Amino acid sequence: MTRALLLSFSPHGKAAHTFKLARAFLSDLVPGAAVIERDYGGQALPPLTREYANALTSTGGLSGNATALSEQLIVELEACDLLIICTPVHNFTVPAALKAWVDHVVRIQRSFTVNEQFEKVGLLDDRRTFVLVSSGNSRKGHEPDFLTPYMTAILATVGIRSVEFVYLGAMVRGEDAVKRAVEQAHRQLSEAISTGL
Ligand SMILES: Cc1cc2nc3c(=O)[nH]c(=O)nc-3n(C[C@H](O)[C@H](O)[C@H](O)COP(=O)(O)O)c2cc1C
Repeated sequence: MTRALLLSFSPHGKAAHTFKLARAFLSDLVPGAAVIERDYGGQALPPLTREYANALTSTGGLSGNATALSEQLIVELEACDLLIICTPVHNFTVPAALKAWVDHVVRIQRSFTVNEQFEKVGLLDDRRTFVLVSSGNSRKGHEPDFLTPYMTAILATVGIRSVEFVYLGAMVRGEDAVKRAVEQAHRQLSEAISTGL
């Protein structure tokens, strides 16, 4: 049975088009999946504490209460074999809600380590991942895209390399544009999933 983790980083939470699409995708194309849903756009993760920052940047400080939330989020991530990240573009990049999740999950000596060449090496298993990206602009090179390279690099840092991006563009251009974007994204997901999970 597929274990899916569905994360929303939209201020619209579970009402976001990306999230609703992800739910439809799972019920249509991955029936029987056990799904855990989290809305970190509507209910933001807490900011990093000084104790957490110290735990990550000093030797011997990598356990205890300071990393409890981080541990919970990583364990939840490790438990899934299908990860779906639903996110808007905010000012050319990830929203703050998603950056907060990254800062809790990408933890030295837990989800990644550093080798003798000072390269970061992921410690988590790879897993099929879809990043559903909603934007006001269409993806026609009108503006920089820092989200795609950032999410590619950050997921690879923890070991997740099987990542596919699905873009829902022109989402501020009226109902027809939204409908077109959602249908196209659903088609892309169907084609992707036809290659198997
Ligand atoms: C603070 C903020 C910044 C945004 N910045 C961008 C941007 O840089 N590029 C873009 O195409 N759309 C931008 N948008 C538009 C959103 O990406 C777009 O409305 C998206 O569909 C929202 O998705 P959601 O409903 O899941 O939150 C921005 C929206 C907000 C609220």
